[in-house]
Amino acid sequence: MPRLLVVHHTPSPALQAVLEAVREGAALVEEVELAVRPALSAGPADLLAADGLLLGTPANIGYMSGALKHFFDTVYYPCLDATAGLPYGVYVHGNDDTAGALTSIQRITGALRWRQVAAPVSLVGAPGTAELDAVRELAATVAISL
Ligand SMILES: Cc1cc2nc3c(=O)[nH]c(=O)nc-3n(C[C@H](O)[C@H](O)[C@H](O)COP(=O)(O)O)c2cc1C
Repeated sequence: MPRLLVVHHTPSPALQAVLEAVREGAALVEEVELAVRPALSAGPADLLAADGLLLGTPANIGYMSGALKHFFDTVYYPCLDATAGLPYGVYVHGNDDTAGALTSIQRITGALRWRQVAAPVSLVGAPGTAELDAVRELAATVAISL
């Protein structure tokens, strides 16, 4: 069964609600195994065992969170060759501007030659019904692509 890995940094209730929506969206797709790992604890073994990836982070000072950056620093060279073409999606949550965080992620995923299979989801402020639905759809879209 294909495995979807979610690597996330979830430091607040708003991001916890988003993570729950990820679980709900992925659960809509049968025959996909879900593995959810905090970015500070995820490593090459998690990534190499995955068939696809969903990244989630807050925007921090115009960049991805340090936690997600740590994940990239940890996996970049160990996984550079083996994960080329990996299908992935991403969500970013911020209080006012997520553009820099998203750009920083796409720069690294581009260098890794991962394949973005769903439009990125940028969330600003308290996530409401529409925002959480968009996250569910993101997770389902990435899961379906596996
Ligand atoms: C040090 C720090 C830097 C931040 N930088 C940004 C930023 O550049 N852009 C933005 O939209 N939000 C920024 N935020 C807000 C976080 O993205 C936000 O707190 C996080 O997504 C959790 O959302 P919540 O506080 O509504 O629960 C920052 C927060 C902190 C603590």
